Amino acid sequence: MGRIAVVTGGTRGIGRAICEALRENGMTVVANYAGNDEKARAFTEETGIPAYKFDVGEHEATLEGCAKIAEEVGPIDVLVNNAGITRDGVLAKMSFDDWNDVMRINLGGCFNMAKACFPGMRERKWGRIVNIGSINGQAGQYGQVNYAAAKSGIHGFTKALAQEGARSGITVNAIAPGYIDTDMVAAVPENVLEKIVAKIPVGRLGQASEIARGVAFFASDEGAFVTGSTLSINGGQHMY
Ligand code: CAA
Repeated sequence: MGRIAVVTGGTRGIGRAICEALRENGMTVVANYAGNDEKARAFTEETGIPAYKFDVGEHEATLEGCAKIAEEVGPIDVLVNNAGITRDGVLAKMSFDDWNDVMRINLGGCFNMAKACFPGMRERKWGRIVNIGSINGQAGQYGQVNYAAAKSGIHGFTKALAQEGARSGITVNAIAPGYIDTDMVAAVPENVLEKIVAKIPVGRLGQASEIARGVAFFASDEGAFVTGSTLSINGGQHMY
């Protein structure tokens, strides 16, 4: 049956590509999603990968959701914290809810999922956690104090948890994607996005599958000595 992997926000965009890449590597994959039932149903029909609905920003719901996955599919060996939202706007126009939702889901989601999965990984002496950060958590981005803070937090979370997991065979790593061709990036106003793409040395947006390959490496048995690491996949936009 192979290792069991859970990918949060796994039914669309980068998450979907990660699900497919892990499955190609022989893993049993489960996707999580929070909102879009229609897209999740289509995803399961097209891929055969089950999708479990819960909001990773809600602590109790996440613990319950992961317990259900463990019961119905098996113990979670690989956790990919991919779920994330944007609520862009300059600080002057950003509401507390815009701040809080992004912190709660993007960063809080990593904590909630790790609380659910880490103890079992430690008992079984094997685990892989891959957190999806962002170029904007490394470099900052105008109009994203919430998102940049949450993603930057993910990079710190990764390095701290890596130290806690190291002696139990658990690696914890992060990917810092640049601008990838997904619905999230498509929501950036066209004139703003044009200026961003002009600054990418490779000259184009990235593909979700290009992020997924990095995740697949971190999640593999071969990645055992790689922990606390961040892999930037951004077309050279930010060399960190
Ligand atoms: N640096 C300095 N000034 C900037 C700027 C920048 N990068 N971007 C915009 N400004 C200035 C503008 O020139 C403008 O100034 P003037 O009024 O003097 O002309 C002012 O700020 C207001 O700009 P906007 O008209 O764009 O303001 P807005 O309120 O309509 O929109 C915004 C602000 C929502 C932040 C919009 O600029 C935006 O969407 N920016 C893109 C944010 C972004 O990159 N998001 C990434 C989403 S994808 C993602 O997050 C995935 C990932 O991990 C990479």
